Amino acid sequence: MKQTWKLGAVRLTFQCLGITIKTLNTSPTASVATDDPMTTRRDQSALRAAVARHEWFHTIDLGDGIVTPGRDRSDEKLARLRLPERLDGRSVLDVGAWDGFFSFAAERRGAKNVLATDSWAWRHMGGRACFDLAHRALDSAVAAREIDVMELTPEDPGAFDVVLFLGVLYHLRHPLLALERIASVTRELLVLETHVDMLFARRPAIALYPGNELNQDPSNFSGPNPPALIAMLRIVGFKRAEVVWRDSIARRLGRAARNLLRTGADPWASLQQGRVVVHAWK
Ligand SMILES: C[S@@+](CC[C@H](N)C(=O)[O-])C[C@H]1O[C@@H](n2cnc3c(N)ncnc32)[C@H](O)[C@@H]1O
Repeated sequence: MKQTWKLGAVRLTFQCLGITIKTLNTSPTASVATDDPMTTRRDQSALRAAVARHEWFHTIDLGDGIVTPGRDRSDEKLARLRLPERLDGRSVLDVGAWDGFFSFAAERRGAKNVLATDSWAWRHMGGRACFDLAHRALDSAVAAREIDVMELTPEDPGAFDVVLFLGVLYHLRHPLLALERIASVTRELLVLETHVDMLFARRPAIALYPGNELNQDPSNFSGPNPPALIAMLRIVGFKRAEVVWRDSIARRLGRAARNLLRTGADPWASLQQGRVVVHAWK
């Protein structure tokens, strides 16, 4: 049996054999632990309404049938990462976390200390509101800081056992320098998910997008092929790097056809593009 009272800025939760004191989340969406079905229903509808007020990138299951309506197929992406099933005792840094799906996933897998960082989306895309809302709804202990990838150093925020760098590299003007920063804060394993191009070239090669050549998005700057990714990771100090997932030729054909219909993009160029997941070890 659990009973909850609100006292000013503090929420007291009395349980059978002990007392837990938690700071009260002042948001109208904060869920209040109670056995009263009416209160629970009110909390759920308040959370549902708050979720509906935001534009989401990630699809996050907040429990009780409430799932954030993100355009990203976050669960499918998670399966591709080949992330260890358990991360107990490991520290995890999620660079470019946005709504935080992968930070919360690392926490669920037992990571002891998870830090979510972002810059662009938290500065320009409605701030951190979605991350904060999911964080409260999940009662998460993930820490969050606005840090640009170029500002990461071993002193601040420090080194982490596992670093997630997902869907960010091609947005950066200085990808090799960014990977150098990432290497400096990785103690063990980097999980890198990214766009690739030049897939028909065997030697390391990088395509550059000075305009909106890639997906009509001027914030996309470059697409290395897998040998170039591996080479860059070796240059910045990883001992070993390996592609652990790549998208199939069928997916790439589908994408090339869609791009042709939507934007008239050259199918031969589209066919050389895809996504990969790379694991790199220190
Ligand atoms: C395509 S989203 C990927 C989000 C998430 N990592 C995922 O894989 O679902 C790109 C993310 O990179 C972030 N980003 C872009 N430039 C950045 C930078 N210089 N430093 C840190 N994050 C950056 C954006 O704000 C955004 O959250």
